Amino acid sequence: MTERKVWKILLIDDDPGIRKVMAITLEDAGYEVVTAADGESGLQLCKREAPQIVITDIRMPGMDGIEVLRRIKRTDPDKEVIVATAFSDLELAITALQLDASDFITKPINDNALEVAIKRAQERYTTRKELSDYTTLIEERWMSTAEELAKTFHFQQMLIESSMDGITACDGEGKIVIYNRRMAEMLGYAREEVAGKMALNQFFAPGEAEKFFNTMASEEFGGKDQLFLYETMLIGKTGDKVPAQVSAVTLCEESENLGVVVFFRDLTSIRQLTQQYADQTRMLHQDKMVSLGRLAASVVHEINNPLAGLLNYVRLMLKILGRGPLNEESTQKFQGYLGLMEGELSRCSKIVSNLLAFSRKSKLEFNEVNVNELISKCVMLSDHKLTLQNIRIDTRLPAQPSKVLGDFNQLQQCLINLIFNAIDAMPEEGALTIECSTDHQRGLVAVQIQDTGCGIPKDELLHIFDPFFTTKIEGKGLGLGLSTVYGIIDRHKGTITVASQPGKGAAFTIKLPLSSG
Ligand SMILES: Nc1ncnc2c1ncn2[C@@H]1O[C@H](COP(=O)(O)OP(=O)(O)OP(=O)(O)O)[C@@H](O)[C@H]1O
Ligand SMILES: [Mg+2]
Repeated sequence: MTERKVWKILLIDDDPGIRKVMAITLEDAGYEVVTAADGESGLQLCKREAPQIVITDIRMPGMDGIEVLRRIKRTDPDKEVIVATAFSDLELAITALQLDASDFITKPINDNALEVAIKRAQERYTTRKELSDYTTLIEERWMSTAEELAKTFHFQQMLIESSMDGITACDGEGKIVIYNRRMAEMLGYAREEVAGKMALNQFFAPGEAEKFFNTMASEEFGGKDQLFLYETMLIGKTGDKVPAQVSAVTLCEESENLGVVVFFRDLTSIRQLTQQYADQTRMLHQDKMVSLGRLAASVVHEINNPLAGLLNYVRLMLKILGRGPLNEESTQKFQGYLGLMEGELSRCSKIVSNLLAFSRKSKLEFNEVNVNELISKCVMLSDHKLTLQNIRIDTRLPAQPSKVLGDFNQLQQCLINLIFNAIDAMPEEGALTIECSTDHQRGLVAVQIQDTGCGIPKDELLHIFDPFFTTKIEGKGLGLGLSTVYGIIDRHKGTITVASQPGKGAAFTIKLPLSSG
């Protein structure tokens, strides 16, 4: 605190002699002195010169010293005012002290008394000034601390509010003191309805609050007075149940229970997803069982016919053998039956091997396959059938052959199946286009087999890859071709898609990953 070096004193007295003598005395004592002859001009000077100490006569014409004191103290309570008075005016002097004058001196003025009065005024002034400076400092500090506190409080408030989890806290009596936005969304109560009015246990579904507090008190789920990832059921304002995961902690200070802070995570959507997943899995399983049943029924049906045929031939042959040694006619019959039996057996064998390919149980031999070569070989093998049915073939192969990693024979079986299907779809005549293209960016090679045949109706498109789905007459098709193709391509990490316009033809596209080598 910097003390003013020069003390300025304002002297108000209507007696010019007293003014002069006192001014000289005070200036000699080192004070700066300004003087006024009456109360009015004294007050103006006081404002302009800002002295720390004012010495005023009490009895003056016009405004008296008491009024001067009163006005100075009203506008500037820190200024020290000494009143000068005659002995007979002691009562006025007392009034002056009641109005916070720092002292009074009696006339005629004694220099020592004046000095003592001024010293006291100086001390009062300094103490008062120090006190006020100190108060200002404290006030400033308090303001900045309060500002900091407000900022921290606001930040913490925002943290709590912006949490994706519900946060709530209750005091030692269980009354809610914190309740964030997420809690309001979960439970439907507004903050005003809850804060200070509701208790934590009212948020729980019947029976759950006791369990919650008991588990809190036990060592389970994270230790005593703590809960970690405990699951419970809350109840909202409208009675809706809200499954929630809870973490909580009891707030204690010197063994005094200050309350509990609880974090709730709404499990509704997670539960819904889990339920959906379980439903889907169940449905998939049901679908699988239905397909399996259908497949088993088809296999039985398909294999039963040739087996019945075989049984007939075996019985016939046994009957013939029972009649005695074979003559030439019987031998010929035997040969005929054996030929028919071979046909039925190979039909059974075809069904079994196709099913093996579909069920992924057959072994694949992976090698680098040149797709141009593969297509050319398939075209060659189908050539005879194509010519017989008047089908034009257009093969479009890239100059630079693409390579895939695969089982040549199985891939050949796929393409042949697709070509034979196309041929079957064009009984009169038609055109077959086989095109191979490479998408280096996606690392894929695409083989498209397009015909101008009968096409596939929309409702059948969904089923053509199902085992035993066929629209062909008995003995012409087993309905295993496309399911076999699907199984093989899938095992090559490829895809097969179909596009068809009934009456105009169909196009099957196989996409396989290019061989990295
Ligand atoms: N190119 C095509 N044009 C029209 N329909 C087709 C074509 N390819 C397949 N289909 C339809 O899909 C069905 C199933 O074909 P898939 O090859 O699986 O069996 P399939 O040819 O009937 O008998 P399989 O191939 O076992 O001898 C066919 O019966 C036919 O209705
Ligand atoms: Mg087929």
